[in-house]
This record gives sequence, C-alpha cells and structure tokens, in this order.
Amino acid sequence: MIKKIVFGQPIDTGTVVKSQKTESPAPVPGRETGRQMPADEPAEMQEQVYTGKDSEIPYFSIRWQKDGAEAVLTCGLAQDDMIYGLGENVRGINKRGWIYESNCTDDADHTENKRSLYGAHNFFILDGMRAGGSGRRLGVFVDAAQKVIFDCGYTDSEELTVTVSAGGFVLYLLEKESLHDIVREFRRLIGSSYLPPKWAFGYGQSRWSYMSADEVREVVRRHRENGLPLDSVYLDIDYMERYKDFTVDKNRFPDFPEFVEEMKGEHIHLVPIIDAGVKIEEGYPVYEEGLENGYFCKREDGREFVGGVWPGRVHFPDVLNTKAREWFGGWYKSLLDQGIEGFWNDMNEPALFYEEEHLKEALEKLGEANVENMDIWGFFDFKKTALGIASRPEDYAKIYHNMDGRNVCHEQVHNLYGYYMTRAASEAFDRLEPDKRLLLFSRSSCEGAHRYGGIWMGDNQSWWSHILLNLQMLPSLNMCGFLYCGADLGGFGSDTSEDLLLRWLELGIFTPLMRNHSALDTRRQEAYRFGHQDDFRNILKLRYALLPYLYSEFMKAALNDDMLFQPLSFVYPEDVFASQVEDQLMVGESIMIAPVYCQNAGGRYVYLPEEMKLYRFRGLDSVDIEILPAGHHYVDAALNEVLVFVRPDHLVPLSYGGEYVAAVDNSRLQLLHFVKTKAVYELYDDDGYAKNVKLEGNITKISVDSSGEITVEGAAKPECRLM
Ligand code: GLC
Repeated sequence: MIKKIVFGQPIDTGTVVKSQKTESPAPVPGRETGRQMPADEPAEMQEQVYTGKDSEIPYFSIRWQKDGAEAVLTCGLAQDDMIYGLGENVRGINKRGWIYESNCTDDADHTENKRSLYGAHNFFILDGMRAGGSGRRLGVFVDAAQKVIFDCGYTDSEELTVTVSAGGFVLYLLEKESLHDIVREFRRLIGSSYLPPKWAFGYGQSRWSYMSADEVREVVRRHRENGLPLDSVYLDIDYMERYKDFTVDKNRFPDFPEFVEEMKGEHIHLVPIIDAGVKIEEGYPVYEEGLENGYFCKREDGREFVGGVWPGRVHFPDVLNTKAREWFGGWYKSLLDQGIEGFWNDMNEPALFYEEEHLKEALEKLGEANVENMDIWGFFDFKKTALGIASRPEDYAKIYHNMDGRNVCHEQVHNLYGYYMTRAASEAFDRLEPDKRLLLFSRSSCEGAHRYGGIWMGDNQSWWSHILLNLQMLPSLNMCGFLYCGADLGGFGSDTSEDLLLRWLELGIFTPLMRNHSALDTRRQEAYRFGHQDDFRNILKLRYALLPYLYSEFMKAALNDDMLFQPLSFVYPEDVFASQVEDQLMVGESIMIAPVYCQNAGGRYVYLPEEMKLYRFRGLDSVDIEILPAGHHYVDAALNEVLVFVRPDHLVPLSYGGEYVAAVDNSRLQLLHFVKTKAVYELYDDDGYAKNVKLEGNITKISVDSSGEITVEGAAKPECRLM
C-alpha cells in the first residue's frame, strides 16, 4: 500500500510516473517510450490532501515553522531502528546519527562533516523490525524540488525529523513486508532505470584533461601495449574551444570526426564532457541562439542571469522550460554527428563560482581590508568574504526559471537542475537515436534523473576512506534508482599511490561505471604508470571476465526495478550481525564482496551470514578456492588478490576476458559455482545497443546439479565448464 499525502501546491518534479499514469491528467512530458512506465499493475494508492492544523498524517507528527512556510515531520526512533537510503551522501549504509540535506552542492571535499553532495535523493527506509526496534518498516519518499533536511537522530537521538523548505511537496509512505519489496515498490513508482550500452561496462580512462589527440592516442597505445583492457577515453573540458559547450578545439583535435573514427577502429569510445554554463561570447551560436530565443535563466527583472564557471561569464540554459530543454538537448547532435556515442554532464548543481554582482561587492569589501594591521576579526571577516563567493544561496535565489509560463525562483526548484539537464540530453537522444542506447551520466541528480542517465560520485580524493565511501554509497544509490554509477577510481583530487589504485580497482571491477579519473595537477594515475603491470592487467582482465555476470545482473536489476548492490541485511534480514556490516556488499544474486580499503593491510575481517565458497583471484589462471563456514573470519588478501564469495547453490558465469567489451566471447563460459543441491543461473544477454529490451527471449538458463553436471537451455547455447 502506498499512502500519498499532498502538502500545499507542489511543483511537478516529473519524478513519480505511477501516480501520473493512474491519477493525474498531465502525462510526464517528453518521454513516451514504453520502458518508462512500470510493467506491473499500480499498487493500491491512498491519496490524502493535507488540509491544515487538524489534519493527521500516518506515522509522523507535523509542525510548521517560519510562519507556516516550512514543514517539520517528526517520528520517534527506537534504539535499534535503522535508516537506509538517501542516495549520494557521506557516511555509512545505515544513515542513523547524522543530518543530511538534499541540496545539490558542488563540494569537492567529501568529508564526514558534510551534509550534502551533488545529488538530492529523498528516499529512505525506516527499519525497526529487529529486536530493540520500533516494529515499523516503512519507505518514505519526499517528492520535492526544494531543499529537504533529514535529521536521522542527530539533534535528538530518539527522533527522526524531515524538514521541507517553503513550498508544496508530496509525501509517499510505502508499506511492505521486506526491505527489498519496499525498494521495488518505490522504484515502480518512479519508473525504470536508465540502460547504458554494453560497451559502457568496459574500463574507461579519464583525466582533466587529455590535451590533444596525440595524448589520447598515447593513452590508448600504452593500455594496449601493456595488455590492459580499455573501452573508452574521456575528454574533459580542454577538448573544447575556450570551454564552450559543443565546440572542439581544432588545434588540439584537428579533424575530430576522423579522430573519433580512428579511435573506434581501436575499439575506443571517446566520451566528451558537457557543462551546464554556456559561455557569453558574441558569435558563439549556442550563446546567440539561447539569447535570441530567451532560453537562458533570468533574474527577477528579466535580464539574463550571469554566473561564473570554467569559461568565465556564462548563462545557464533554462532546462526546466520545455522548449529550452529541447533546444539545449538538440545541440548534442553536433557531437553525435561527429561519431560520439556517450557524454558526461557536469557542473549542473549548477556550480556557481561567482555571481557577477556579488563578486563586485566582495572585491570592493576585500579592497577595504586593513592591510596595515589586520586583527583576528578582520582576518576572519576577510577570509569569509573571499571564500564565500562561490555557490551562495543568496545568489541562487537571484535565478528565475520560466517553467512553461510560470515564473519560478530557483530556490524552489534548485534540486531539479542537474536532473533536467540530463533529461534534456536523453530526450534529444530519443529523438535523434531512437534505436540505440547512448552513454550518459551526470554529476548532479535527483530521483527522476535515474530514468535518463547514470551518475558518478563527483570529486572524491585519493584517500583510503573514499574507497569505503564509494562502497557504502552504492546500495543507497541503487535504492534510489541509480544503477549505472561509479566513483572516480584512484581518486580525483590529491595524489594517488599504486597500492591505493590497485585496491580501489578491486572494488571498481564490480561497479557498472568503471572509470579512472583524476584532477589537473595531481599525480598521473593511468594503470600503465605503475610498476606492477601484471597485477593491474590481472585485475582489469577479471572485470572483463565478470562481464557476462555483471551485465546480466545489471540488466535484470534495471528491468525488474531491483538493486544490483544490496546491503547484507536485505538478503539476510534475520541475521543480527549482517545488519551491522558496513563494508561488504551483495553484488547481484550470487556474489558477496569484501574489498580491502586500508593501506598496508594484507587481509581483512569478513562476516559470512552463511557458508560460502571463496574464490581468491590473483588472475584468471591463478585462483585459490576454499569453503568457509558461516561466521567471522580473518581472510588474507594480498595487494594483488580479489576476493569473490559465492553463495550456496549459486553460479557466476565468467568469460575468458577480452581487450575490450566487443571482444568478450559469451559463447564460452567458465562457472564459479557452489552447488550443494542444485544451482540455476538465468543469464541475460543482448546486442548491447537496442533500446526497448525485455527479459523474455534474452535469458539462457544454466543449471548445475550436485554431481557437477551442467545443463544449458534458452536464448543462447554457451559452452560451459566449471572453474
Ligand atoms: C569538475 C568535475 C571533474 C572535472 C572537472 C573539470 O570538478 O567534477 O570531474 O574533471 O570539473 O571539468
């Protein structure tokens, strides 16, 4: 049962597809493909309109602050209640004990004192079904475009409060028996997740920036020479002419279409970045067209809003306006026409280095500082002014959107901007390439965006703690619909080290988006830069060996509104220890992973909720296999070893690898197996491109019985052997 409660007059975020299908006369604009709509019948939905003081809502008490503008929903927390979800955020899988804000923010310091990162993911599950819990199990989704604060027992350890800033919103309460069912119910509510092309599951190499075609060629050559598999190279902002979207710098990349073709000949996809800000420059067609048609965000007085980002002064396309969105999306064609098949959308919180008028004020103030004898307060004030220029709420409040005739202040819709930029591109792809999946992922997002693209976790650092953060975010993002995701492997900011990169890749081989990316002026971190080439090669090869399983599990999760990464407690709900494990994950139906994320550790403690078979890979040809009983273990894992735990009566199909995705041969498989009675695996596969795919017709059933006999039936007839 879903309970829907409407507060005030909410802005239509376009996130919920189910209720629009069943109740609202207004369809979700722009997106009519079948896969957007949930496959099964809508769940029963009970709708209530909150009418004011005497109106009661289930589970929460409600009070209003700021003259009745801000809603505060409160419910008690029992000692052992847990909170899952909230997508892209710092801290653990269980969100209890900290305060999080959905307020998309460009912040490159993902330290645990932060409350917001780039996304606004307003879904969580309150789970009090264990001993010491409240006995409730409830999914909560706040469908809102403005800021929402989730205080998960931080201010008062016995209270959960959700504070929604001024403006209407819709609250959805989802009641189901299991954690897993709550997630599926939620995901059916918000529509199916984005499907990337199969090549996007290959390894990608990125850097801010590869400065020329020759530098890219060198990156590809050195991967190939060292036998390091690779499918894509990312082009960061310097491929553009003075950071202007949809331009290519001809000095650095002469004859771009020919270069794109040349790379395709090497089985490499080039993936250019697109930023939200459009450079203000006469003669630049994107700027001129946008200005002429009024497609940029305005100020209250109707002048175009001017912000500062990489290109200097920019306007922001008003992607919340249908026509402007169509127009901006249309510009991706200029690169598609040159052979490009994938993009990453960036700086779309939108990042605001400065707002022009405030910059002037701040500079004036700084100019007045006491240079002769700056005292402590003068210094603090100076520092605050200098450091406080970027991303100021007061500056965001100067931006206005024309939401199809309705003039809306950005404050009211801040969290939608990145989502609608992704949507602009994706809707254009549906028009321009109706039959082909393209790669698209974004930095900023909000639920709803999961239908149009994936996300990466933004500007992390080359820190060991960020391997763990990467792991912990994965299930939370999956709950919110973001299946195609990953972090900058090796770390974006700061200098990486060989061991850090190896350990991070050992987690990264399981994430759908597997990209090594690093910032300007940091130590180079392409895998071929380091000494132990055999280790890098073996780890990357293992990724390509895992592809049949990973692709199959990803597609089944996407088509069934399910998760690829689950916390252990979702699979073993009765197990008290499992609910406390914060550094292991279930990946698909057969595997548990427990990566090492501490420097100089030669292994780690692992909790097994049941007996499992451990495959300790040093390479595809060098594996230790042992069966471990349920319980606590210390497991050795040298720097070049990857631990894969297989559940009883489960199979994992592996390929024999390949230098790139298209070279991976699914007609010959080796099976990781732990068969006690019988194991059946449903392997999904397709051509890797087609858009409206279904499970039916694409499944091959592989069975192994206790004597080791293998049977194969269904779509394909792979030759299988046990490993
Ligand atoms: C932002 C992105 C980062 C990119 C940089 C330059 O910081 O998050 O990935 O490299 O901008 O474009």
